[in-house]
Amino acid sequence: MHILRPLTLLATLPLPTTHALKIACIQQWIEHTPLPHAAANFYHPPLHLPGPPNLDDDDGSIDLAANAETQGLKNFVDHRNYRLIGILVEVTYRMVARRSAGIATLADLRGKRVGTIRGTSAEVFAVQLLGTAGLQAGRDYELVGGGIYTCMRAPCGEGSFPAELVAGGIDAFGVWETAVELGVQALGEEEAVTFKNASVYREVYSLYSTEEKLKDPVTRGRIVSFVRALNKSYDVFREQGQEVVDFVGKTVDVEEPVLRNVWEDHVWGPGSLGKDLVDYLEREDQYLAEVDGRKPLTRAELEQFVDPSVYEEAMQE
Ligand SMILES: *[C@@H]1O[C@H](CO)[C@@H](O)[C@H](O)[C@H]1NC(C)=O
Ligand SMILES: *[C@@H]1O[C@H](CO)[C@@H](O)[C@H](O)[C@H]1NC(C)=O
Repeated sequence: MHILRPLTLLATLPLPTTHALKIACIQQWIEHTPLPHAAANFYHPPLHLPGPPNLDDDDGSIDLAANAETQGLKNFVDHRNYRLIGILVEVTYRMVARRSAGIATLADLRGKRVGTIRGTSAEVFAVQLLGTAGLQAGRDYELVGGGIYTCMRAPCGEGSFPAELVAGGIDAFGVWETAVELGVQALGEEEAVTFKNASVYREVYSLYSTEEKLKDPVTRGRIVSFVRALNKSYDVFREQGQEVVDFVGKTVDVEEPVLRNVWEDHVWGPGSLGKDLVDYLEREDQYLAEVDGRKPLTRAELEQFVDPSVYEEAMQE
């Protein structure tokens, strides 16, 4: 772990109380762990972690929120002041299927029952991935969304995705980790078949703020400092040393072997907030707009949603 000498600490870190930041996110996911890591090691904002990761659920006192791009887009539709200011991690989702159901390739999912979580990044992933094999939900396979819970740590009881897969209630499921890894383990290496394609779908778990927060010089300054602290944590996460694996395991209560198996699907760090991201969001929004029965966001609107200026400012000093 990085050890800062006290003098360096005083010189570079603002006093915790005067530089408080409130960050809303869900604490169950591996994706959020750079936030508490940066807070514990490189900056000290009080983290407001539980609850829906929305910026508007606490009378405007929340400065930052972290969530997948799917929820980011959905929120932006109703809150045009939201800004995507950085990427915490990009995660390639996976789908796990039962080999004994006759599944070796994606195309074999024709006529099968595929579990996912409706209205989330998991559904976007499952539908897009099966789309690459020419399969359409409802027409070629059944998307099973209700009544199954997303177990994130073993043991996964009755009614969970892994248990339903083993019992044959579904033939495959595609959601976020660690649920898929638990599905692989429940089936066993021989019986489990997994599919992924990062160019078709990867979760872009991002950091959000609002136009107002970013316009306020004091808050903006804190956010820029926190982004620099986060950037130090990304380096630690990429190195995947024992200490950070222990930290993440303890933070989200996941056992080390499960964590190590899914780590390679996590690309830590700010990523690109350029044209590629806007292209990617545009494709996803077209799908979401159709499902939600609304007009897709325009290119200009998406370009306003993605705001790289905080990272640019953080890099200048
Ligand atoms: C991933 O999807 C892209 C776009 O559909 C396709 O061109 C590529 O072959 C896929 N990769 C794999 C490994 O299937
Ligand atoms: C983040 O760290 C990398 C080195 O790992 C550096 O090149 C980059 O400029 C840093 N970005 C910010 C915003 O501090």
